[in-house]
Amino acid sequence: MRGWQEESVTQTTTAVEFDPFSMEFYNGAQDIYARLREEAPVYYNEQYDFYALSRHADVAPAYRDYETFSSAKGVDLSAVRTGEDAQFKSIITLDPPEHRYMRSLVSKVFTPRAIAGLRDMVSDRIEFFLNQNKGKEQFDLIQDFSALFPIDIVSRMLGVPEGDRTQVRLWTDELLYRDVGQVELDERGIKAVVAITRYYHELTKKRRAEPQDDMISKLIEARVERTDDQPPSLSNIEIAMFGSLLGGAGAETVAKLIGGAGVIFSEHQDQWQELYNDRGKIGDAVEELLRISSPNQYNVRYLTKEIELHGVTIPAGKPIFLLIGSANLDPEAWTDPDTFDINRNGREAPNLAFGYGLHSCLGAALARLESSIALDRMLDFMPRFEVDHANCTRVTMQNVAGWNNVPVRVLA
Ligand code: HEM
Repeated sequence: MRGWQEESVTQTTTAVEFDPFSMEFYNGAQDIYARLREEAPVYYNEQYDFYALSRHADVAPAYRDYETFSSAKGVDLSAVRTGEDAQFKSIITLDPPEHRYMRSLVSKVFTPRAIAGLRDMVSDRIEFFLNQNKGKEQFDLIQDFSALFPIDIVSRMLGVPEGDRTQVRLWTDELLYRDVGQVELDERGIKAVVAITRYYHELTKKRRAEPQDDMISKLIEARVERTDDQPPSLSNIEIAMFGSLLGGAGAETVAKLIGGAGVIFSEHQDQWQELYNDRGKIGDAVEELLRISSPNQYNVRYLTKEIELHGVTIPAGKPIFLLIGSANLDPEAWTDPDTFDINRNGREAPNLAFGYGLHSCLGAALARLESSIALDRMLDFMPRFEVDHANCTRVTMQNVAGWNNVPVRVLA
């Protein structure tokens, strides 16, 4: 089928344009992705000098091939295009063997048992934030709910004291924020990165002096056997980098998934009712939301050597976008991919929403737990609802896509 469509490429007059910093992209890239997959499976953007892969069959193997698609320079364009390794590395910007050591250290605090042990706290925080909207005629599903609980949960896990949690959330917002067309962090963003890393650095020093029952204290205790001469434990700066990473990786993503769920289910009220009546389907609904509205639309890699794909030669040293959002909508991988269907057998192809291969999301089990509980409580809180679509707004962030405002009215 694809071969036939490829032939029709020549009939398209305007070349497809993928600008990840444009409002067109932020507004939902479904159509751009479809054209990329068909017309330019190896896409080159001259303005920013990057390449992009959009087909599931290309994106999934690239995520696994860390020798060619390296994370060492970073995972967003501004970092990767410098061609320099990050000065302070966090797990997400390490290649093996360093990544293997780091992953086994931090995995010690992300065991399935540790995550299952968070269930009560997670439920409690979700209920707390949702119930704050009780009795309101209208509330914002993102600003008054889904933006609040994930960062609160991550902060609690790490051991951030109550009084500091709002500040940590505000810094996290600032370091992820981008204006339309903005690739690099602005001064406000840089300040936020410095402030949050410094904050976690200080907190780690405090926990080293006086351990508590929290993740930072456990990360300080974690040890790994190494075959090189590096220390077997994490330094204060490594722990601080991990803490600040979790704010973005672990909070904004869940916030976007759940806020977006409001928009999607408002357009599929029948499936909301189905879920209301059969909570056993919530797990599948979360997977389908992840597929169709992947909060992390892409990660960028640095090409370590020249490759040839679909007749295009990509030179070494170029940034290359791996488009999760497109791969998860590829008709070669999924039947009727643009249709949202909680009864879809999601095992047709690997769902790339949590990445793939060695960097695949460390917090996936926690994300699934939070999202399932959030949907369950939302079903009780708003069994029938409508979204004020005219007043929904999108975020203009790097890597993370989705809504910023989703005004919701609960119906009787
Ligand atoms: C819906 C929610 C989430 C989505 C869609 C998501 C997505 C992703 C993706 C795509 C990656 C791979 C990045 C890459 O290959 O460069 C990743 C990695 C990661 N995620 Fe998540 N994530 C979510 C929630 C979380 C949560 C709740 C946490 C922890 C609190 C978390 C922590 C991490 C960490 C630490 C990594 C780096 C793993 C590594 O480099 O080995 N994520 N995530």
